[in-house]
Amino acid sequence: MGTSPDLALWRILQRESPMTFAQYMGLCLYHPDFGYYAQAPSIGRRGDFFTSPCVHSVFGAALATQILEIWTLLDQPKDFILVEAGAGEGYLALDILSYLEKKGFDFPYFIIEPFPAYQARQKEILAEKACKVSWVQDIQDLPSFTGVFLSNELFDAFPVHLVELTEEGLKEVYVTARQKKITEALSALSSPEILKRLKPYIENWPLGYRTEVCLSIEPFFKEISRRLNKGALITIDYGYSQRDYYHPERYRGTLMCYAHHRFLEDPYAAPGHTDITAHVDFSLLKGLGERLGLVNIGFTQQAPFLVGLGVENLLSEVSPGKSKDLEALKMLILPQGLGMSHWVLIQARGLPAETKLRGFSLSNRLRIL
Ligand SMILES: C[S@@+](CC[C@H](N)C(=O)[O-])C[C@H]1O[C@@H](n2cnc3c(N)ncnc32)[C@H](O)[C@@H]1O
Repeated sequence: MGTSPDLALWRILQRESPMTFAQYMGLCLYHPDFGYYAQAPSIGRRGDFFTSPCVHSVFGAALATQILEIWTLLDQPKDFILVEAGAGEGYLALDILSYLEKKGFDFPYFIIEPFPAYQARQKEILAEKACKVSWVQDIQDLPSFTGVFLSNELFDAFPVHLVELTEEGLKEVYVTARQKKITEALSALSSPEILKRLKPYIENWPLGYRTEVCLSIEPFFKEISRRLNKGALITIDYGYSQRDYYHPERYRGTLMCYAHHRFLEDPYAAPGHTDITAHVDFSLLKGLGERLGLVNIGFTQQAPFLVGLGVENLLSEVSPGKSKDLEALKMLILPQGLGMSHWVLIQARGLPAETKLRGFSLSNRLRIL
């Protein structure tokens, strides 16, 4: 009889101990056999959490209209493609492609998906679009492209370093797994980059202040930017500007864990069975974009973005006259749904900085980043 996945993951955690929280999070989410995402957890009603593409196809339709506007502003390049990373169930790809098809457009669609189990589910859902969609397992396998790279709730799942302010200065959380128990200890920072990121904020923090720093977004973002010849990056996620993220009042950080739609306090309760996430530092993405020669075009919350794109009219276009659709729309745009927690950042190469996109016609809050 084989070893159970739980036991196997536990053994790996013990073997690697002590490790930074980022290493712990990386193993729990991304171990290729025993990590949370390797099991391709369902997203939506039957899953641990909801995301906008699972709420209604109008979300994808709205994004498709934004993509078409970008394509037009870029002078309708013939080699224009779409790339999505972390496509989850594959609904966003399906809804974007379906809407584009209805409007007579036919762009190739690449999905970067590291996990075979998710790839298999995406292939099922996208069966009718099979001839348009290609999969790569790793960003390294993606060729240079002209087009749009998009992600929804991708970066919040990138491993974060946990730090705490002590009387001896800033310390990092290290995790040890022993005899079915996980304990934390504070020790020296594992990378000078952590202090560099937090230095402007530390002096305002009370002792015991805990927060996170994500170092893994930068290399991934650089790889995407390097491949983008011309086009845009659309990032949708929950997050803050750096000033809000590291505000003295946010003294417990933004780490969140979910299992079966329940919020769990403890990231150590069920390794491999819990989604562990942290909010995205959007100022970091903006700064990285600037350093990599991208132009920051707009930043706003999901609600004004979708309304700016005419989401109400799109709703009657994609599914006319169904009353439950109105409930879905509320979920996408109201503050008690995903409307104000989620933000949209668009960065571009080959478009001027003063480009006005419809998604930002009601609000553009780039200056807060
Ligand atoms: C929270 S789910 C979001 C799924 C989907 N975008 C949605 O909105 O429903 C995170 C997804 O990101 C994927 N993922 C995580 N790290 C990734 C990486 N480095 N490259 C590509 N996908 C990644 C996971 O496999 C998972 O499909």
